[in-house]
Amino acid sequence: MNEIFTRRSIRKYQSKPVEQEKLERILRAGMQAPSAQNEQPWEFIVIAKDREMKQQISTMSPYAGMAANAGALIVVCSNLLVTDRNWWVEDLSACVQNMLLQIEAEGLGGVWLGWYPDMERVERTKRALKLPEQITPFAVISLGYPAETKERADRFLPERVHYERY
Ligand SMILES: Cc1cc2nc3c(=O)[nH]c(=O)nc-3n(C[C@H](O)[C@H](O)[C@H](O)COP(=O)(O)O)c2cc1C
Repeated sequence: MNEIFTRRSIRKYQSKPVEQEKLERILRAGMQAPSAQNEQPWEFIVIAKDREMKQQISTMSPYAGMAANAGALIVVCSNLLVTDRNWWVEDLSACVQNMLLQIEAEGLGGVWLGWYPDMERVERTKRALKLPEQITPFAVISLGYPAETKERADRFLPERVHYERY
């Protein structure tokens, strides 16, 4: 579980492509996440080769510029036909975090790019990727072989913990 404590957002990447086996283990980690009623309401669009699509997605949010140079992008989507709609944001969040931890374990670096509930980003992505109506892009994970290193951060704040009563 070291990855929980060493993971940082990595936004600079080497040009080296990410191997398919690594991508598959990252997706596997995502799909291992807990979900309400075990609905597993996730779907993934992996963009590893299409440089033009990476570039296009990088312009859809003011905070996604690094996506243009990523080894791969994983657009994590919910399938609203599967989910009962109440808990899918929590389900998808757990899924994304699992993937970020696996990215760290693979010696790669990644960053969670917020998409939903910014409906402009969601709609632009749906159009660009020609997604069916029920598929909603929730987050984009930008990843690759890291071209920057970051110190681990200790964020433990004892004053945020309240035992027995607030
Ligand atoms: C819901 C969510 C949305 C985020 N969106 C972005 C984003 O659009 N662009 C970006 O560069 N980082 C984004 N981040 C990454 C955060 O900036 C980062 O996790 C935070 O600054 C803590 O740094 P660390 O990940 O290195 O520990 C997002 C993180 C979360 C959880």
